[in-house]
Formats: sequence, structure tokens, C-alpha cells
Amino acid sequence: MLSFFKRFFKQKPLITKQDILKVSLPPHIGIIMDGNGRWARRKGLPRAAGHRAGAETLRTVVETCIDLGIPYLTVYAFSTENWKRPEEEVNALMELLVEYIDKELFKLKENGVKIKTIGNISELPAHVISRINNAELETAQNERLVLQIALNYGGRKEILDAVKNISQKVAAGNLQPDNINLQTFEEHLYTAGVPDPDLFIRTAGELRLSNFLLWQSAYTELWFTEVFWPDFQPEHLYQAIYDFQKRQRRFGGLK
Ligand code: FPP
Repeated sequence: MLSFFKRFFKQKPLITKQDILKVSLPPHIGIIMDGNGRWARRKGLPRAAGHRAGAETLRTVVETCIDLGIPYLTVYAFSTENWKRPEEEVNALMELLVEYIDKELFKLKENGVKIKTIGNISELPAHVISRINNAELETAQNERLVLQIALNYGGRKEILDAVKNISQKVAAGNLQPDNINLQTFEEHLYTAGVPDPDLFIRTAGELRLSNFLLWQSAYTELWFTEVFWPDFQPEHLYQAIYDFQKRQRRFGGLK
């Protein structure tokens, strides 16, 4: 009986949009969209079907963020480690991204969404790169919601790239080591110009960051749920924000 109630409340969050609009919202939310594969397996479907359902969830979450007035959303779509997956799955993820852009670009543009990718895009297939470039170009002027899609992204690689970039400037005599500060460093990250994430959401029960925005998450509040990404609903997002609003952020200082 107890487990029934636990499951019921886990699946049906009780928080509404009105509850979270009373307090200030996290300006930047990051999401590790995990559990597509397990969701598919439970339904006896191929893993690609889980990713497809995950893309639908992403569509809904983007709309919810627009509706709430959240200005930044970063989603982890493909990590530098995801190349280890079978070629078939990697290809399915790439095609899903292309499909997502083809299907959604018009609406995203209309809704004021600026698409920005972070990660090593140059290593992706040529047709994916051209779709991304076009989507970024076509939405560059939008300001309502910045949708950062982490693709072939790794937090360690991002930090390493920043170090290399800075070192080259130092070697060329264009930057003095004494002048390198936190701001200089941040200007060399893929996320330059985007504020650090306030809230991280990870679905599907894993309790780790998996190389996601390692530098930027120094003071990010973490929120985890057992719910698989394809089952994630706007109400789960409301619940995450509601819990975030209850936390006291001190950034290393005192209350
Ligand atoms: C993790 O679930 C999810 C991914 C590696 C990919 C996330 C991609 C999407 C949600 C597709 C849509 C993205 C775009 C940008 C269109 P998993 O496969 O590791 O799940 P598992 O741990 O249950 O196997």
C-alpha cells in the first residue's frame, strides 16, 4: 500500500504553474535527458524509439520554458562519450537531431528561440553540421529563450579547449598570464556570454553529472528524479523548480 502511494506521488507531482510563478524562477536550467533506452526496453521497443519519444519530451519542455519565461535552457543531447554506442544508435541520434531541426525550426523561430550548440560540432556528419549552422543563423536574433544543445560535448574537453586557446594567446604575446582571471577563462568556454546554470535536472535515477557543464555547475542546484525522460511532463519541471525555490543558495557565503 505504501509503495503504491509512493509511486503515485512520484508519477503525479502536485505542483502547478501558479505555485512556481509566485517566486523568482531559475534563469538557466540544464537537463540531462536520461532513460530513453530503459523506457524503450520496458515497452519492448528499440532504443531509437526511446530517443524519438525523448525528442517529443524535449519539444514539450522547450514550450514549457517559453511559457514560464525561462531565458536559458541547456540540454545534453550527445556527449563526447556517446560515440562508444553502437553505430546504429549514433546514426539514429544524428538523424533525430536533423529531424528535430527540420520539423521545429519554423516554430522555434516564431517563438523567439535562439538555437546555440555547444561541443565539438566539426566532428559531426556534414549534413548535421549544415543543419545546425543554418538553425543557428536563422535564430541568431532571437532573445526569448536561448536553447543550448550540447552535442559531442564534454565538460573536460571544453575546459581543455579553453586552456589551449588561452595558451595560444599567451604564446603569441596577446595575453599576459597575470591577466588571466575567472572572467577571461569563462570567455573562452563554449558557453561564453551565457550565465551559469541555476538548476540541473537529471532524469532516470542516476545521480551524477556525467561530464556536463563541469566548470559552469560550481554552484548549480541539483535535482534528480526516477522518471524516464520520455515520461517527463511539464508538472515534473514545475516540481523541480518548486523544490529549487525552497533551497537557500549561499554561493559559499553566509545566509
Ligand atoms: C540518454 O538516455 C539520452 C541520450 C544519450 C540522448 C538524448 C537525446 C534525446 C532526448 C533525443 C532528442 C535530442 C534532440 C536534440 C533532438 P540513454 O539512452 O542513455 O538511456 P538509458 O540510460 O536508459 O539507456
